[in-house]
Amino acid sequence: MTSPAEELTTLNIPLPPALAPEALPRLIDALVEQGWYLGDGVLDAELCAELHAELAALAEHDALEAAGIGRGKSLQLRRDIRGDAIHWLDRESHAQRRYLNAMGEVQQALNQALFLGLFEYEAHFAHYPPGAFYRRHLDSFRGRANRVISTVGYLNPDWPADGGGEMVLYAPDDPGREVARVRPAVGTFACFLAERVPHEVLPTRLPRASIAGWFRRNASLGGLVDPAH
Ligand code: OGA
Ligand code: MN
Repeated sequence: MTSPAEELTTLNIPLPPALAPEALPRLIDALVEQGWYLGDGVLDAELCAELHAELAALAEHDALEAAGIGRGKSLQLRRDIRGDAIHWLDRESHAQRRYLNAMGEVQQALNQALFLGLFEYEAHFAHYPPGAFYRRHLDSFRGRANRVISTVGYLNPDWPADGGGEMVLYAPDDPGREVARVRPAVGTFACFLAERVPHEVLPTRLPRASIAGWFRRNASLGGLVDPAH
């Protein structure tokens, strides 16, 4: 089945870019200068609306999985640390493919400008029900130092000033110093050094939708390709 957006492209009506073109050079400069980047109105609004609807449908059909801490055998469910429910993006919809393709452009730009050798991107939808939060953390796992850059895209239309759910970023290697407080408003895109920028999600008052993703370096050993997640 083709989605309305795919029908549009087959009629050769070009879709707007998923990511505002001026965002890429800014993102690279900000990562180099301060280790984090934040942009409002960076993600295409129509695309965000499609992704938001997809996540809402998954939540409604109980098709999300409770998010854990750690990975593989050491995965633990800890509601006192994080309360979101997730679904990994797998290119199953046109909107997901558009989002992942846009992240592919970011990956290419980062590799070209900064020689990061980023090899792969993984991302999940995250639904935070009212009251949920994610305590301060770094996006890396013990013994698996391969998440290099984190991205977060926000999907929530009309987020009120008192909606809560801000993502707070702290200075690289200095968890005492807050550097940004990010409202999870539609189109906002954040990017930061995964292992060096501590961050947290404050308790949300409303259901909160985001896509968290990571560019990875290949951590394969002995010819075994590292599995995606
Ligand atoms: C994460 C994370 C932030 C957000 O999933 O690791 O920090 O705002 N998410 O969704
Ligand atoms: Mn994180």
